[in-house]
Amino acid sequence: MNKNTLPIAVIDSGVGGISVLRELIDIMPRENYIYFGDSKNAPYGSKSKSEVLDITRQNLKALQDKGIKALVVACNTATSAAVRILREEHPELVIVGIEPAIKPPAIELDNPTVLVMATPLTLREEKFLKLVERYRDRENVIALPCPRLAELIEGGDLDSGEIEDYIAHLLAPYKEQKIDALVLGCTHYPHVKDKIARHLPPSVKIYDGGQGTARHTKRLLEAAGKLNDGVKRGTVEILNSSADARYIELSKKLLLR
Ligand code: DGL
Repeated sequence: MNKNTLPIAVIDSGVGGISVLRELIDIMPRENYIYFGDSKNAPYGSKSKSEVLDITRQNLKALQDKGIKALVVACNTATSAAVRILREEHPELVIVGIEPAIKPPAIELDNPTVLVMATPLTLREEKFLKLVERYRDRENVIALPCPRLAELIEGGDLDSGEIEDYIAHLLAPYKEQKIDALVLGCTHYPHVKDKIARHLPPSVKIYDGGQGTARHTKRLLEAAGKLNDGVKRGTVEILNSSADARYIELSKKLLLR
């Protein structure tokens, strides 16, 4: 059996990682994918690090039983809680994580002030603090925890007044401040990027880690000789830990957006 046709598993606490799956399909359309949304356990962002590690371990085990060649942890929160450990535990797998995209504005802009929206767990984790430290001389980072935003997006009505009010309230203090860039440090947030953008001046550049993560995944698969070189377009299977069929529907809808 050609192992390169095995799927790439893409996981998140729910529908957020679909924003990363879109980028992966865009640059690697011939790969097969299994998307696993863990909506039953969402949100991860208000759980402890060890809870998220345990959950992610179990989810990986179930996916490995199905047969996969790589894991993309399309969740900033689970990446900071689990990826380093999972890589140690699974040297046989290509494992890729995602982190808030604070490197691109540090490189592209001149000493910018960068607002980083992410879950409380991502922002208090060592991984994030080290990342900020690394670019300290090149940008000024303001961390903005968004405790309920992923949950509201999981709710499915992206045009709801509740999401609008939440974002407006969250960003109100930054209206008068000089912000050069905004980082969407949670994979759920690109699904409401246009709504977030409306609350900031048009000059604010918005970044997310999806495209960089997809490019990095491709590089790693290439280096490991694991790219699928089939000629046909690959398949996408969408799974969810919740028995509520709504999450699969929502995932499909977001994938096609
Ligand atoms: N989508 C996830 C992230 O990138 C987490 C959302 C959550 O479950 O809190 O951080």
